[in-house]
Amino acid sequence: MTDTQLAIVILAAGQGTRMKSQTPKLLHTLAGVPIISHVLATARELEAAHVLTVVRHERDRLAEVITAELPLCVVVDQDEVPGTGRAVELAVTHLPSEFAGDVLVLNGDVPLLNAATLANLIDAHRSGTAAATILSTFLDDSSGYGRIVRDESGALDRIVEHKDATDEERTVTEINAGVYLFRAAALRDQLAHLTTDNAQGEKYITDVVGLLRVAGSEVAALSVAQSWLVEGINDRAQLADAAGRLNALIVRGWQLAGVTVEDPVTTWIDLKTTLAEDVTILPGTQLKGATAVARGASIGPDTTLVDCEVGEGATVKRTDGTLAVIGAGASVGPFAYLRPGTELAADGKIGTFVETKNAKIGVGSKVPHLSYMGDVTIGTHTNIGAGGITGNYDGVNKNATVIGSHVHTGAHNVFIAPVRIGDGADTGAGAIVRKDVPAGALALSVAPQRNMDGWVFTHRPDSASADAARAAQDES
Ligand code: UD1
Ligand code: CA
Repeated sequence: MTDTQLAIVILAAGQGTRMKSQTPKLLHTLAGVPIISHVLATARELEAAHVLTVVRHERDRLAEVITAELPLCVVVDQDEVPGTGRAVELAVTHLPSEFAGDVLVLNGDVPLLNAATLANLIDAHRSGTAAATILSTFLDDSSGYGRIVRDESGALDRIVEHKDATDEERTVTEINAGVYLFRAAALRDQLAHLTTDNAQGEKYITDVVGLLRVAGSEVAALSVAQSWLVEGINDRAQLADAAGRLNALIVRGWQLAGVTVEDPVTTWIDLKTTLAEDVTILPGTQLKGATAVARGASIGPDTTLVDCEVGEGATVKRTDGTLAVIGAGASVGPFAYLRPGTELAADGKIGTFVETKNAKIGVGSKVPHLSYMGDVTIGTHTNIGAGGITGNYDGVNKNATVIGSHVHTGAHNVFIAPVRIGDGADTGAGAIVRKDVPAGALALSVAPQRNMDGWVFTHRPDSASADAARAAQDES
């Protein structure tokens, strides 16, 4: 049910300077999803009447992601006045003037915060009388964060930013999580009083807390026991920490859903990847994007799959794959490279040191060793000999190779595309197949072998080879 009393404001206009990146901070990803999208997904769960996201730095790139994730979100542009307080001030002007509910402000760079924690915050706030309730937590190393300053009675007094804090204030380990729930009227009143009179020359949303207290209002702080839930991402070290934490949660979730993960530490699974029961994941495996693995399949060790589909009971070892489909019972690797458009049907095989691209390989067909199969269609129960190469590129165009069913190609063949090999045909070892091969034919393109008897005795009479040949002749 939609919470008509709730508006959510997400702050996403900052520069993210500490990332030192061409990519906007909030578009860096954890578990395959941009930081900002994690926050938007959480916001969506709360079913607020209004969701607004404030942008400025790289606004178009962010707006695109925001609108894709949450089409109903209002994108608000921050002006040249800097600071989180200014961002909220502008967002609030986009709310209906009669809106009298609660405004939940979320930092866009706190991706692990979950809806359950926010629901607790909303409950605590609505069951009390405070004009604002904020989330805090305790950190061993609180540097960089705004500190919670309490009065003698222990009540929350104000928030002081790290850069504005005295040495004594910096020893405080209770920090502001950057999550605030305000009664709309109280927030509107105090936003008007924010100034840029501080170390960073910015309007701070955190100053609203102190202003409310001075105005005689109560402000409550709800402490989050699991501090990682509210850790912000400002630099790449924090990004890696949060990504590791999220991955551990994802892996644990799949383990409890019936997936064997031998080594959770070296297994990385994106949020959008799905796994069925009795899947086994061996060490060093990364499953990315919308990869989907069916029941009983075994993936790894040392395998990376991006947007791949793996069928029931398939085995994929030491493989790198992108946008590939692996059929039920099929076997891939070790050391295979599946590029986009690879479709290996049920019980097929792509073996060792094999690269495929745009390759449709039929039921039970095998490409076992040392091959490149590009722009190819292979029928069913065909075997490609070791070292089979499709010459799919003539320097200008990519051309197709079509190989039928129950075909056996010899070792070390080159298929000069466009070319077709009919059903039930064979090709000899070393063949360069330039012309179509009719169904049932044997294609040979290598000159017949000629043996020059005794060649070694005339050309290398004193060699070890000549001695060996002589000994062999003497024996027979
Ligand atoms: C902020 C808080 C700090 C808190 C910490 C928690 C302020 C002044 N400080 O600090 O008390 O402990 O978060 O993680 O709020 N943003 C805007 N417009 C701006 C500046 C920032 O929308 O003009 C956005 C950023 O994109 C970011 C969020 O606000 O998503 C927080 O900004 P950031 O600069 O990371 O604040 P912190 O220094 O981490
Ligand atoms: Ca931050």
